[in-house]
Amino acid sequence: MKTILTGIRPTGHLHLGHYFGATGNWVKLQDEFDTYIEIADVQALTDNFNNPDKVNKSVKDLTIDLLSIGIDPEKSTLFIQSMIPEIAELTVYYSNLVTISRLERNPTVKTEIKQKKELFGEKGESITYGFLGYPVSQAADITAFKGELVPVGEDQLPLLEQCREIVRKFNSIYGETLLEPEAYLSKFPRIKGIDGNEKMGKSLGNAIFLADDEDTVKKKVMSMVTDTNKIKIDDKANPDVCMVYYYHELIGNPNLETVCKECKNGERGCVACKRELQEKLRDFLKPIREKREYYENNPEIVDNILKEGTKKASIKAKETMKEVKNNMKINYFE
Ligand code: TRP
Ligand code: SF4
Repeated sequence: MKTILTGIRPTGHLHLGHYFGATGNWVKLQDEFDTYIEIADVQALTDNFNNPDKVNKSVKDLTIDLLSIGIDPEKSTLFIQSMIPEIAELTVYYSNLVTISRLERNPTVKTEIKQKKELFGEKGESITYGFLGYPVSQAADITAFKGELVPVGEDQLPLLEQCREIVRKFNSIYGETLLEPEAYLSKFPRIKGIDGNEKMGKSLGNAIFLADDEDTVKKKVMSMVTDTNKIKIDDKANPDVCMVYYYHELIGNPNLETVCKECKNGERGCVACKRELQEKLRDFLKPIREKREYYENNPEIVDNILKEGTKKASIKAKETMKEVKNNMKINYFE
């Protein structure tokens, strides 16, 4: 059985972008693979070092989100990054194998630096050593567990490439030790926001969260961007430029062809179309909401899942660490 290692930053609740871009896929994959899911609190702190309360609270929120969508602790090992010190240790050793210019050229890092500048201006906080180095730490996340498949969204591909380079360099210097992971993309590796932006994101204010209540979801659907050329109810429109249609498709509306045809023929009003989407979203979110309620009422169960998962993850990371130290010849008294 191949090993899956994936991770997510605890910086808030899961939204539909996470679900359809990656985490929904994890639910399916956990049946077939030995699955490790890291709650990447150390990585979250690279951006949020001045906001420890947010990261702390989000660890539990996110774990509940993951359990609510169907991550099964019998099948997946859920663990907390900071509780596995071997990951930090590996990061130090790997940092010798990466140049600063290579990190600066990493497209994901570059985009994030650009976004920070847009958000905070050129005078905003400058880039920290920890932030620039987070791809190295992510390589440690993956390799500590000998992750073979990494199911992630499209934005993570450059980080995976960087990990593969580190593995190759490590193995060529110290001998075959680490595995080169492969990415595993979902059917929709990048999910658009309700405003039509190419990416759904919490900080972009265009996300529908799995934890949103029904009223909030309804309002968000009503505010979705449709074909702006459609003014009257019987105007013909183009579903391809409409976010309502996009989410009908994403959510797997079995009526999709009818929606498309009626929209093109001017036989469907946007308000009715939005109502239909609200219903479909309500049906989709119902079982998730029920599970959330269960876990929110039983926080000790959530704590136990994290504790047990972390214990299991720790054993595996220690095994890898031992091999790494042997091969790097820093195993002095053994
Ligand atoms: N960087 C990922 C994100 O922002 C989260 C992450 C941390 C991750 N460690 C990982 C993803 C290891 C895959 C593998 O979503
Ligand atoms: Fe979008 Fe539906 Fe309106 Fe067509 S009818 S533009 S798909 S909301």
